[in-house]
Amino acid sequence: EQIELDGFEHHMLKEIFEQPESLRMCLGGRIEAHDGKIKLGGIRDYLRELTRARHVIFTACGTAFHAGLVGEFLLEHLARIPVETEYASEFRYRNPIIEDGTIVIAISQSGETADTLAAVEQAKERGAVVLGVVNVVGSTIARATDAGIYLHAGPEIGVASTKAFTAQVAVLSMLAIELGRRRHLGSDDAARHIDELAQIPEKIERILEQSDHIREIAAANIDKENWLFLGRGFNYPVALEGALKLKEISYIHAEGLPAAEMKHGPIALIADGMPAVFVATAGPQYDKMMGNIQEVRARGGRIIVVATEGDEYLEGVADHLITVPQTPELFQPMLTAVPLQLLAYHAAVLRGHDVDKPRNLAKSVTVE
Ligand code: G6P
Repeated sequence: EQIELDGFEHHMLKEIFEQPESLRMCLGGRIEAHDGKIKLGGIRDYLRELTRARHVIFTACGTAFHAGLVGEFLLEHLARIPVETEYASEFRYRNPIIEDGTIVIAISQSGETADTLAAVEQAKERGAVVLGVVNVVGSTIARATDAGIYLHAGPEIGVASTKAFTAQVAVLSMLAIELGRRRHLGSDDAARHIDELAQIPEKIERILEQSDHIREIAAANIDKENWLFLGRGFNYPVALEGALKLKEISYIHAEGLPAAEMKHGPIALIADGMPAVFVATAGPQYDKMMGNIQEVRARGGRIIVVATEGDEYLEGVADHLITVPQTPELFQPMLTAVPLQLLAYHAAVLRGHDVDKPRNLAKSVTVE
């Protein structure tokens, strides 16, 4: 096992640090044409149907569900196709509406999650085209779907999913750009998005350099039993994912929320230095986020911020600041998720937990 760990203390940390490479593998060969076209060989036979789709449903569990939520924003924004993201465990029992032009896309790292597989079977029975976004080649969900896009992220062993999330978002980004190009985006626009996507691996390298700094932030707040994670827009699912990561491995209670929802209840929790992690990168909702930060600060919350490099205002406001390189809002989740993975990792290690074998959890849940 030591050799496999390549000198890292845990698989989870190794996999967090592998993300520049796993994303290069995921994007490699698919975005290299420089003409705005993306090669998604696995779904070649379904591209026509996807381009004409009237309704896409992403179905998944856990971290893959959060990737689906980001995918929903991406597909609606770039391809203007209506999308819903459903927990597979809910989709399978809710008598889903599948009509002509509905495409169901199951997202699963392992390809073995029982609820996701059942959702696939349910969608197939109702006559939907069912595609997969799966990491494990030849897995049950990969075989059960009509076609799919593999992540090519390499094996993920840590129970808490990390590199699969960023690869899932990368795949959904490519799908959104390609469908956008086939529907209404100009080739120039598509090429511009591809160029941004290609820069993500290198930008993650810069975030990973802050691992020690993020450990200090975790250490400074390690006695806190309740945390909030807040984001808006494309970073709202990242807030959910940040909270899930912290819960899974550090056993600290955390809640992820769209930042503006705080005023409808959760703000009542804020007192006595409760940590609130804001994903407040540059984008259309930046000013609104500043308002949300002030509300929490005024009530005595501890302000931890993931901001865009060079944000001097937040440097002054935050108790703890983590920065990510600049990238358009729609690709930010692949960057902003990384410091939250590191935060959860360091908090769990500082609390003395076995990060790769968290209590009560399994890498793939093959029972309902
Ligand atoms: C388990 C894992 C999670 C994962 C979820 C879905 O609960 O602990 O990390 O996100 O299953 O797994 P899948 O393999 O379908 O992506």
